Amino acid sequence: MRKGRFKKPAAALAQRYSESVSFDWRLYRYDIAGSIAHAAALAQGGIITAEEQRRIENELRAIEKEIESGKFEWERSLEDVHMNIEAALVKRIGVAGGKLHTARSRNDQIALDLRLYVKTEGREATTHLRQLQIALLNLAEQHLDVIMPGYTHLQRAQPITFSHYLLGQIEAFERDGERLRDCLVRTDVFPLGSGALAGSAIVLDRERIARELGFSRVSQNSLDTVGDRDFVCEFLFCLAMIGLHLSRLSEDLIIWSTSEFGFLEFSDAFSTGSSLMPQKRNPDMAELTRGKTGRLYGNLMSILTTMKALPSSYNRDMQEDKEPLFDSVDTIKTALEVFTAMLPELKVNRDRMETAASDPNLLATDLAEYLVKKGMPFREAHEIIGKLVTQCVTKRRLLNQVPLGEMKKLSPLFDADVANVFDIRRSLSGRRAVGAPSPENIAAQIKRWRSDLGKGD
Ligand code: ARG
Repeated sequence: MRKGRFKKPAAALAQRYSESVSFDWRLYRYDIAGSIAHAAALAQGGIITAEEQRRIENELRAIEKEIESGKFEWERSLEDVHMNIEAALVKRIGVAGGKLHTARSRNDQIALDLRLYVKTEGREATTHLRQLQIALLNLAEQHLDVIMPGYTHLQRAQPITFSHYLLGQIEAFERDGERLRDCLVRTDVFPLGSGALAGSAIVLDRERIARELGFSRVSQNSLDTVGDRDFVCEFLFCLAMIGLHLSRLSEDLIIWSTSEFGFLEFSDAFSTGSSLMPQKRNPDMAELTRGKTGRLYGNLMSILTTMKALPSSYNRDMQEDKEPLFDSVDTIKTALEVFTAMLPELKVNRDRMETAASDPNLLATDLAEYLVKKGMPFREAHEIIGKLVTQCVTKRRLLNQVPLGEMKKLSPLFDADVANVFDIRRSLSGRRAVGAPSPENIAAQIKRWRSDLGKGD
């Protein structure tokens, strides 16, 4: 590459500083697939002969096998994945290999490799998400009627069921899947043929190569195409968002596994011990996932900052997109795998959950609604029940232990049927609004998810 323009080789230090093959070798499959399709277009355009195309293709496939078996020798001095593969090709088949780079630049080549990579990994991430959702759904089905307190501000609020909680998690991961699929629509744009920045006077059938490589659209502005990493930013955002959801799930599980809560226990296989304290059983998998969310955010910030204020079209800064991208992909994949394997082994302590949920204060809102149903404006009811709760606190008794006579002093609307309010299952059954946790709703949601998640993407 330097032969024509430069008198001296690059300084070893400069080579080491600028090489990317130590990490972008991972793109070899896409690079080779792109080159094979490009060679076919060159043959079709009469730039190379059918025989040359055949030799290029065969040799590229041989190189691919070598890489896969670990025998291929990557050379840092050849800078990147593109030059390494091209150099090997030229070395092996000579002149024909040297024709492959016609009407192509590494600028559109890397855009192609990256888009193919994101398309593949994006689809894989949606599959991993599905598997996690199925694990959550199985758990929800197994613990269908386990009542627990629902929290806001981490304070006991109103009763819910554990399955309602789990179905809520499935919703969040569903949005993540939708977001990924949406991001993949914009990733699915074919960049090759944009050249370095201004296309090429050697005109190839871009539509055809695009179709061959499985793209549904062809980019429409060569300058924009080589400088566009929106899809990487978006993808990293999608992955960061999955991290956020996993981190919040982690936090719930961690806190519920404490002795203070005792709602659940991680299995031995997914717990760690302490090197010092023999009694410890630590939820490290969930903690690590919560922690790894930091690097997912960092990777997103990294690409956004790299791209900010770059002049239009390709700039070498953009080489910095790869390591954060690869890191986020690896991180999310393992995190999703770990959670999918860990959740089925979670031991749910029904008694502890239901004891916590038996706190009658959780039904204070139901009590206010009891008065509302008898004609009282909600604000007034809210105040009366507030007073009742305060009285209970001072008199050290539970909300369901207040004699009817005392309740009547606060409002004549209280009657003997108020006792029904403190039936927690009855309270849950009444929550029939769309999205609320009545057992009928939960059963319907489980049925819906069973059918939706069974369909795949
Ligand atoms: N390694 C480069 C990257 O990742 C590939 C494109 C290089 N283009 C160039 N003109 N040096 O962005």
